[in-house]
Amino acid sequence: MSGREWWRQAVVYQVYVRSFADSDGDGVGDLPGITSRLPYLRDLGVDAVWVTPFYRSPQHDHGYDVADYTDVDPLFGTLADADALVSRAHDLGLKVIVDLVPNHTSHEHAWFQAAMAARPGSPERARYLFRTGRGADAGEPPNNWLSVFGGPAWTRVGDTDQWHLHLFDSTQPDLDWRNPEVAAMFADVLRFWLDRDVDGFRVDVAHGLLKEESLRDQRGQRTEVDHFEMGGLAEDAPMWDQPEVHEVYRQWHRILAEYAGDRMAVAEAWTSTVEANAAYVRPDELHQAFNFDWVLAPWSAPAFAEVIERTLPAMAAVGGTPTWVLSNHDVQRHATRYGGGAVGRARARAATLLSLTLPGSAYLYQGEELGLEDVEVAPEHRQDPSWFRTGQPGRDGCRVPMPWSGDRPPYGFGPGTGQPWIPQPDDWAPLTVAAQEADPASTLAFYRRALALRREWLRDAGDDVTLTVLDDVLTVRRGQVTLAVNCGSRAAPLPAGETLLATGPADGGLPPDTAIWVRTS
Ligand code: BGC
Ligand code: MG
Repeated sequence: MSGREWWRQAVVYQVYVRSFADSDGDGVGDLPGITSRLPYLRDLGVDAVWVTPFYRSPQHDHGYDVADYTDVDPLFGTLADADALVSRAHDLGLKVIVDLVPNHTSHEHAWFQAAMAARPGSPERARYLFRTGRGADAGEPPNNWLSVFGGPAWTRVGDTDQWHLHLFDSTQPDLDWRNPEVAAMFADVLRFWLDRDVDGFRVDVAHGLLKEESLRDQRGQRTEVDHFEMGGLAEDAPMWDQPEVHEVYRQWHRILAEYAGDRMAVAEAWTSTVEANAAYVRPDELHQAFNFDWVLAPWSAPAFAEVIERTLPAMAAVGGTPTWVLSNHDVQRHATRYGGGAVGRARARAATLLSLTLPGSAYLYQGEELGLEDVEVAPEHRQDPSWFRTGQPGRDGCRVPMPWSGDRPPYGFGPGTGQPWIPQPDDWAPLTVAAQEADPASTLAFYRRALALRREWLRDAGDDVTLTVLDDVLTVRRGQVTLAVNCGSRAAPLPAGETLLATGPADGGLPPDTAIWVRTS
């Protein structure tokens, strides 16, 4: 991994805007709320904040349906609030990454409104993917593709023979990236935010912008939406990861390079191989890509080792930097994924320590530093579009608002007693930031310590790692630090060296579901 740009070894904290901090008491998190809590993030010890979409949007997919890319939704604040957030973050030494949603717009975007008002074959329609339906009366969708959120990926335009493509919700029409107007519009959007001093972009559905031109049927399609992996692992996927998409990122690379300060972009690209993923971070494309193999790995030493051994050479081959992701707003929180309860939380801490050992950068998701687990959200409170399309619980459980203080909801999420947009559980009082700040054995105290030690011992420790797997204990040696994580069911010997940090009690042996950092010289 060449170069010393800030993002290559950064710890990035993902803020899910609706659920981080609410300044005005309407129950929905907002930009002034984030700004007021930036000192908390500085004290936590992260390097950058990634803020999920806060642009004008009817909120059918909580902002991933953008109606205006260069304005702030009144729900979240104003452009002046966005500027204030960026400048306060910079004052505190934090970088800011904003979300960019280029695969689709909202159906309320001026372009889609114009397209619906225009005739088939018009330039307005040519910015999206409108096609004629199949069957005698065009009553069947143009192909067999399914929406990631369930159901067909096409919606019929009234009773005409035209349908429009949406790989996500019907309110998120896909743009036609073969139309140069689309690329030109996004070049302007990039510049708009770069001029406002953001340090980077998280690129939503980066592997989806270009579809195979024929829009042919998908072969061997699965009918169930059981995982938020966006068909990236499907054998035949004419809607994902097409070679032409890389030209888009070459153009963006040139735009980012016009600005001082190592501006960057990180791809959300669900691909079938790590080599396909690494293609997004070739030297003239984007800068990073989320490592979803890390999310998908089960709690197992050989499984973790295998992902590390696969990731490092693939990234090195393109001069890229690996990333380590355990949780985000689309997947079950890792404490829940690893079994939930005390065991899940212990494993989650241990997996976090493992992530923080590895070369490259780590992406944290708000609330994991509190040991939050997914919440069982009652059906009447669910808002994920996939719930409405499939009747499956969806992603609301990992999006419940942060508990800051106090002993009952809203736990300081907003002023007063107003309740947040999704109810918080009654038993979160011990998990609030205030409660954990008072407890040196808390998950929050562990994260602060781990991030401080990472800066001191690991951030600049180079790319070489030595891995060993023995009896379901994974040992990683990097620089002067040795990590051991016990994924087995029996205590294991402690690695030799001076203890820097352990994720739980570790006297005389390394218990199951525990990890430790020791220093060797
Ligand atoms: C985002 C999701 C969103 C989808 C559609 C994903 O990559 O992370 O939250 O629903 O894209 O924009
Ligand atoms: Mg608010």
